[in-house]
Amino acid sequence: MRVFSVLASPRIKGNTSVVLKRFLEGVRENHSGVEEYTAILHEKSIKPCMACDNCKTGPKVCVISDDMQQLYREVEAADVIVLATPIYWWNMTAQLKTFVDRLYAMDFEKSFKGKRMVLLMTYGGEDPNSGAEIVEKSFREICEFLSMEFACKFGLCSENPIEIRERALEEAYSLGRKL
Ligand SMILES: Cc1cc2nc3c(=O)[nH]c(=O)nc-3n(C[C@H](O)[C@H](O)[C@H](O)COP(=O)(O)O)c2cc1C
Repeated sequence: MRVFSVLASPRIKGNTSVVLKRFLEGVRENHSGVEEYTAILHEKSIKPCMACDNCKTGPKVCVISDDMQQLYREVEAADVIVLATPIYWWNMTAQLKTFVDRLYAMDFEKSFKGKRMVLLMTYGGEDPNSGAEIVEKSFREICEFLSMEFACKFGLCSENPIEIRERALEEAYSLGRKL
Protein backbone atom coordinates (compact mmCIF):
# COMPACT_ATOMS: atom_id res chain seq x y z
CA MET A 1 0.00 0.00 0.00
CA ARG A 2 1.34 3.42 -0.93
CA VAL A 3 0.16 6.42 1.08
CA PHE A 4 0.62 9.93 -0.24
CA SER A 5 0.02 12.58 2.42
CA VAL A 6 -0.37 16.29 1.94
CA LEU A 7 0.30 18.64 4.85
CA ALA A 8 -1.55 21.84 4.00
CA SER A 9 -0.70 23.92 7.07
CA PRO A 10 1.97 26.61 6.80
CA ARG A 11 2.97 25.73 10.38
CA ILE A 12 4.98 22.61 9.70
CA LYS A 13 5.19 21.70 13.38
CA GLY A 14 1.67 22.90 14.19
CA ASN A 15 -1.51 21.12 15.23
CA THR A 16 -2.27 19.61 11.82
CA SER A 17 1.20 18.17 11.53
CA VAL A 18 0.83 16.49 14.96
CA VAL A 19 -2.46 14.88 13.84
CA LEU A 20 -0.97 13.67 10.54
CA LYS A 21 2.07 12.24 12.34
CA ARG A 22 -0.09 10.27 14.79
CA PHE A 23 -2.37 9.01 12.01
CA LEU A 24 0.66 7.78 10.01
CA GLU A 25 2.08 6.08 13.12
CA GLY A 26 -1.16 4.11 13.26
CA VAL A 27 -0.89 3.23 9.57
CA ARG A 28 2.69 1.97 9.98
CA GLU A 29 1.80 0.00 13.09
CA ASN A 30 -0.79 -2.12 11.33
CA HIS A 31 0.40 -2.27 7.72
CA SER A 32 3.80 -3.81 7.20
CA GLY A 33 5.77 -2.61 4.21
CA VAL A 34 3.66 0.51 3.71
CA GLU A 35 5.30 3.01 1.37
CA GLU A 36 4.83 6.69 2.17
CA TYR A 37 5.55 10.15 0.95
CA THR A 38 4.45 13.38 2.63
CA ALA A 39 4.40 16.66 0.73
CA ILE A 40 4.62 19.83 2.82
CA LEU A 41 2.72 22.14 0.51
CA HIS A 42 4.03 25.31 2.10
CA GLU A 43 7.56 24.34 1.05
CA LYS A 44 6.51 23.66 -2.55
CA SER A 45 6.18 26.07 -5.37
CA ILE A 46 2.67 25.48 -6.73
CA LYS A 47 1.06 28.07 -8.95
CA PRO A 48 -2.73 28.38 -9.19
CA CYS A 49 -4.57 26.68 -12.06
CA MET A 50 -4.91 29.21 -14.88
CA ALA A 51 -7.74 27.38 -16.66
CA CYS A 52 -5.82 27.32 -19.93
CA ASP A 53 -7.48 23.94 -20.66
CA ASN A 54 -4.31 22.57 -22.25
CA CYS A 55 -4.77 19.54 -19.99
CA LYS A 56 -8.11 18.77 -21.62
CA THR A 57 -7.81 20.00 -25.19
CA GLY A 58 -4.09 20.33 -25.89
CA PRO A 59 -1.20 18.07 -24.84
CA LYS A 60 -3.37 16.56 -22.02
CA VAL A 61 -0.87 17.49 -19.36
CA CYS A 62 -0.46 20.48 -17.10
CA VAL A 63 1.80 22.93 -18.88
CA ILE A 64 2.81 24.78 -15.71
CA SER A 65 6.36 23.86 -14.81
CA ASP A 66 6.55 23.82 -11.00
CA ASP A 67 6.63 21.37 -8.08
CA MET A 68 3.20 20.05 -8.95
CA GLN A 69 4.83 17.95 -11.68
CA GLN A 70 6.47 15.82 -8.94
CA LEU A 71 3.21 15.67 -6.98
CA TYR A 72 1.29 14.43 -10.04
CA ARG A 73 3.59 11.40 -10.02
CA GLU A 74 2.95 10.89 -6.30
CA VAL A 75 -0.83 11.00 -6.82
CA GLU A 76 -0.52 8.51 -9.69
CA ALA A 77 1.48 6.08 -7.55
CA ALA A 78 -0.70 6.34 -4.42
CA ASP A 79 -3.37 3.92 -3.22
CA VAL A 80 -4.43 6.28 -0.43
CA ILE A 81 -4.34 10.09 -0.47
CA VAL A 82 -4.33 11.76 2.96
CA LEU A 83 -5.21 15.45 3.09
CA ALA A 84 -4.36 17.23 6.34
CA THR A 85 -5.54 20.82 6.66
CA PRO A 86 -6.34 23.42 9.28
CA ILE A 87 -9.67 25.18 8.83
CA TYR A 88 -9.22 28.74 7.61
CA TRP A 89 -12.35 30.86 7.31
CA TRP A 90 -14.70 27.85 7.21
CA ASN A 91 -12.64 26.22 4.51
CA MET A 92 -9.44 24.42 3.56
CA THR A 93 -6.21 26.46 3.44
CA ALA A 94 -5.22 28.27 0.26
CA GLN A 95 -2.30 25.84 -0.04
CA LEU A 96 -4.67 22.85 -0.23
CA LYS A 97 -7.14 24.57 -2.56
CA THR A 98 -4.32 25.47 -4.97
CA PHE A 99 -3.11 21.85 -4.93
CA VAL A 100 -6.62 20.47 -5.46
CA ASP A 101 -7.36 22.86 -8.33
CA ARG A 102 -4.23 21.64 -10.10
CA LEU A 103 -5.46 18.01 -9.88
CA TYR A 104 -7.92 19.05 -12.59
CA ALA A 105 -5.12 18.39 -15.12
CA MET A 106 -4.98 14.67 -14.34
CA ASP A 107 -6.72 11.82 -16.14
CA PHE A 108 -9.53 11.33 -13.58
CA GLU A 109 -10.26 7.69 -14.40
CA LYS A 110 -6.64 6.58 -14.51
CA SER A 111 -5.36 8.63 -11.60
CA PHE A 112 -8.16 8.50 -9.01
CA LYS A 113 -10.72 5.78 -9.65
CA GLY A 114 -10.87 3.23 -6.82
CA LYS A 115 -8.36 5.04 -4.61
CA ARG A 116 -9.11 6.05 -1.05
CA MET A 117 -9.09 9.52 0.47
CA VAL A 118 -8.57 10.43 4.13
CA LEU A 119 -9.34 13.90 5.47
CA LEU A 120 -7.66 15.17 8.66
CA MET A 121 -8.59 18.62 9.97
CA THR A 122 -7.81 20.89 12.90
CA TYR A 123 -9.65 24.04 13.94
CA GLY A 124 -9.80 26.53 16.78
CA GLY A 125 -13.58 26.77 17.05
CA GLU A 126 -15.61 24.33 19.08
CA ASP A 127 -17.08 20.96 18.04
CA PRO A 128 -19.12 20.40 15.98
CA ASN A 129 -17.19 22.77 13.72
CA SER A 130 -19.13 24.09 10.73
CA GLY A 131 -15.91 24.83 8.78
CA ALA A 132 -14.86 21.18 9.11
CA GLU A 133 -18.35 20.10 8.02
CA ILE A 134 -18.12 22.29 4.91
CA VAL A 135 -14.70 20.90 3.98
CA GLU A 136 -15.87 17.33 4.58
CA LYS A 137 -18.87 17.92 2.31
CA SER A 138 -16.59 19.31 -0.43
CA PHE A 139 -14.29 16.30 -0.33
CA ARG A 140 -17.16 13.82 -0.21
CA GLU A 141 -18.49 15.44 -3.41
CA ILE A 142 -15.02 15.40 -4.98
CA CYS A 143 -14.64 11.69 -4.11
CA GLU A 144 -17.98 10.89 -5.67
CA PHE A 145 -17.04 12.79 -8.83
CA LEU A 146 -13.66 11.05 -9.05
CA SER A 147 -15.01 7.58 -8.13
CA MET A 148 -12.79 7.56 -5.05
CA GLU A 149 -13.72 6.12 -1.69
CA PHE A 150 -13.98 8.67 1.13
CA ALA A 151 -12.29 6.36 3.66
CA CYS A 152 -12.51 8.42 6.85
CA LYS A 153 -12.26 11.87 8.36
CA PHE A 154 -10.92 13.18 11.62
CA GLY A 155 -11.28 16.58 13.27
CA LEU A 156 -9.45 18.04 16.26
CA CYS A 157 -10.26 21.27 18.07
CA SER A 158 -6.82 22.66 18.83
CA GLU A 159 -8.20 24.89 21.62
CA ASN A 160 -9.49 21.97 23.68
CA PRO A 161 -7.73 21.14 26.97
CA ILE A 162 -4.67 18.91 26.61
CA GLU A 163 -6.39 15.77 28.01
CA ILE A 164 -9.15 16.00 25.40
CA ARG A 165 -6.62 16.62 22.60
CA GLU A 166 -4.57 13.63 23.70
CA ARG A 167 -7.64 11.42 23.61
CA ALA A 168 -8.46 12.74 20.14
CA LEU A 169 -4.95 11.96 18.94
CA GLU A 170 -5.42 8.35 20.02
CA GLU A 171 -8.49 8.29 17.81
CA ALA A 172 -6.37 9.55 14.88
CA TYR A 173 -3.86 6.76 15.60
CA SER A 174 -6.60 4.17 15.67
CA LEU A 175 -8.05 5.44 12.35
CA GLY A 176 -4.57 5.01 10.88
CA ARG A 177 -4.42 1.44 12.18
CA LYS A 178 -7.80 0.65 10.64
CA LEU A 179 -6.97 2.12 7.23
C1 LIG B 1 -6.25 32.61 8.75
C2 LIG B 1 -6.88 31.71 9.78
C3 LIG B 1 -8.23 31.42 9.68
C4 LIG B 1 -8.84 30.56 10.60
N1 LIG B 1 -10.17 30.28 10.47
C5 LIG B 1 -10.77 29.39 11.30
C6 LIG B 1 -12.14 29.03 11.13
O1 LIG B 1 -12.83 29.48 10.23
N2 LIG B 1 -12.70 28.16 12.01
C7 LIG B 1 -11.96 27.61 13.04
O2 LIG B 1 -12.53 26.83 13.80
N3 LIG B 1 -10.66 27.91 13.21
C8 LIG B 1 -10.03 28.77 12.37
N4 LIG B 1 -8.69 29.07 12.51
C9 LIG B 1 -7.90 28.36 13.56
C10 LIG B 1 -7.07 27.21 12.99
O3 LIG B 1 -7.84 26.36 12.16
C11 LIG B 1 -6.48 26.35 14.11
O4 LIG B 1 -5.70 27.13 14.98
C12 LIG B 1 -5.65 25.20 13.57
O5 LIG B 1 -5.48 24.21 14.55
C13 LIG B 1 -4.28 25.65 13.06
O6 LIG B 1 -3.57 24.54 12.59
P1 LIG B 1 -1.97 24.53 12.49
O7 LIG B 1 -1.43 24.58 13.89
O8 LIG B 1 -1.62 23.27 11.78
O9 LIG B 1 -1.58 25.73 11.72
C14 LIG B 1 -8.07 29.96 11.63
C15 LIG B 1 -6.70 30.27 11.73
C16 LIG B 1 -6.10 31.12 10.81
C17 LIG B 1 -4.62 31.42 10.91
